[in-house]
Amino acid sequence: MATAIHFHDQHQQAHSDSLREESLQGLARTPKAISPKFFYDRRGSELFEQICRQPEYYPTRTEELILRRAAHEIAEIAGHSANLVELGSGASRKVRLLLEAMHPSSYLGVDISRDFLLSSARRLAADYPWLEVHAACADFSQPMSLPEEALGEQPLAFFPGSSIGNFDPQQARDFLRNLHAQLPHGAGLLIGVDLVKDTAILEAAYNDEAGVTAAFNLNLLERLRGELDCDVDPARFVHRAFFNAAQSRIEMHLLSPEAQEVRIEDEHFAFAAGESLHTENSYKYSLDGFVALAAQAGFKAMAVWTDRRQLFSVHYLQRD
Ligand code: AVJ
Repeated sequence: MATAIHFHDQHQQAHSDSLREESLQGLARTPKAISPKFFYDRRGSELFEQICRQPEYYPTRTEELILRRAAHEIAEIAGHSANLVELGSGASRKVRLLLEAMHPSSYLGVDISRDFLLSSARRLAADYPWLEVHAACADFSQPMSLPEEALGEQPLAFFPGSSIGNFDPQQARDFLRNLHAQLPHGAGLLIGVDLVKDTAILEAAYNDEAGVTAAFNLNLLERLRGELDCDVDPARFVHRAFFNAAQSRIEMHLLSPEAQEVRIEDEHFAFAAGESLHTENSYKYSLDGFVALAAQAGFKAMAVWTDRRQLFSVHYLQRD
């Protein structure tokens, strides 16, 4: 039986257009950089799901453990028959813990990857027949407006996975301010935030033995080659990921070991030997550092849960 979901298409620009424009711009910049939001085509989203299962990649499993332990407390704070809004819903696995503990009256999943979003939303609707399921395709790295009919009276926004870490602190503040403007007074925000820790643990998480993170990073070049009029050989680039302590972030790059050229349409971009294309930042916070940032966007810290080793945190914030 097909289960109906409510679909809201908020993504004004065709995705391949923004990939084209942002690649042309990003390769012309010094240093060269492309936004990590372009990792998530279908293949990229699948590779990301695989990353989450790698033994070195602690964030997903740790956040799940924290949520499993805190689910009932969260349900008490958020209240019942709330309207759950998940940002960057991806495969929507963690949210099941909340759905089961909270029994919200509606669920809205927001994601940039349309196919992935729709198939996960349909699966949720099939598994939870009592739930009103909405899906909105949107790029929330841009100012966006959430569909009002799906927000309901008592929204609880859920932003898991430390996706906020892809923004630099100023962009994170702007993102939270935008969210603040969308939510009514008193609304909750449950947000997963990765913590600063030993460099070896951090670097291992982005350099898994099986090479899945490398494949995920290189898939960006496969996309350029497949979706644009572009000559690029992914085999001539290598994955690099390291912790930049001064900026408190993991950086991912695609490094060109030798000098080479990449062509998009009639533009040629020269890479010197050792030059890289910066593909991602993943910022790591202290508990206090994140609370201070959220406060600047009008969110008050109500509760925080962590694991025993303080690898990861889940904050419950309230919009003032
Ligand atoms: C989805 C942004 C939280 O930064 O850890 C995982 C993405 N990149 N491995 C992260 C990612 C490489 C992930 N976020």
